[in-house]
Amino acid sequence: MTVLFDRHGVKLLQGDCRDVLACVEPRTVDMLLTDPPYGMAFESGWTAAKLTVKSDGVRQGVRVVRSALNDLQPTFHPDMHALVFCHWESWPDFYDNLCHLFSVRNALVWSKSGGGMGDLRHEYAKDYEIILFGACGRGRELAGQRVGAVLSHKRVSAAERDVPFQKPVGLLAELIERHAPPGGLVLDPFVGSGSTLVAALETGRRAIGVELDAERAEIARARLERWCAQGRLGNATTPRTQEQAGLALEP
Ligand SMILES: C[S@@+](CC[C@H](N)C(=O)[O-])C[C@H]1O[C@@H](n2cnc3c(N)ncnc32)[C@H](O)[C@@H]1O
Repeated sequence: MTVLFDRHGVKLLQGDCRDVLACVEPRTVDMLLTDPPYGMAFESGWTAAKLTVKSDGVRQGVRVVRSALNDLQPTFHPDMHALVFCHWESWPDFYDNLCHLFSVRNALVWSKSGGGMGDLRHEYAKDYEIILFGACGRGRELAGQRVGAVLSHKRVSAAERDVPFQKPVGLLAELIERHAPPGGLVLDPFVGSGSTLVAALETGRRAIGVELDAERAEIARARLERWCAQGRLGNATTPRTQEQAGLALEP
């Protein structure tokens, strides 16, 4: 596990998330926010190489996610919230494979406000994704006013994207503010281009992100550096205690 970034309570690690357990203190993760390999084979003509996500392939993705989250369970705070992005075709598999770790409360819908690949004449536009919301124990209350389960945020345009399937920082920041307490720790074991970590910086939460692919991890590191250079940090809050910081690795 290599530490690529470690500032403002936000840490980016490059390696296999199934090896990250030793780097996170037990019972410290307040929010699991992740967009794992979907368990689908994404292949479509010329884009096939670009769309490849490590650990993808029918059923393989969900196996990796289950095994990683099983290993990480000791790090979950007793009232942790989990938000897991899922493809519409594989979300029942994710539900079945994760519901022993937390009780699933809702399936949120991320409405992308239009667009989407697929058959233009015979199918509805694929303009949404499912986000499973689960909580350990009773879970803590959601922050802010009660809102509906459909969250509208524009997708990241092709011109703005660093990697395929990049999630909008605004959507992740909204989720973090609702589900992670100020100063709380967010874990993303499948961090891709680092969107979750950027959202944590913006909202003043601590975070740990892990990415297997060295090239993507480097993209995430560069993005975090750019973000810091732009001075767009949120109101960083003091970790509740040193132990709860959950950042056991030396830089
Ligand atoms: C769907 S992408 C995440 C994209 C991210 N939400 C973003 O906005 O950039 C899933 C990521 O998980 C990574 N991944 C797959 N298996 C992994 C593993 N065992 N450990 C860590 N990362 C892994 C892939 O390389 C890929 O970048």
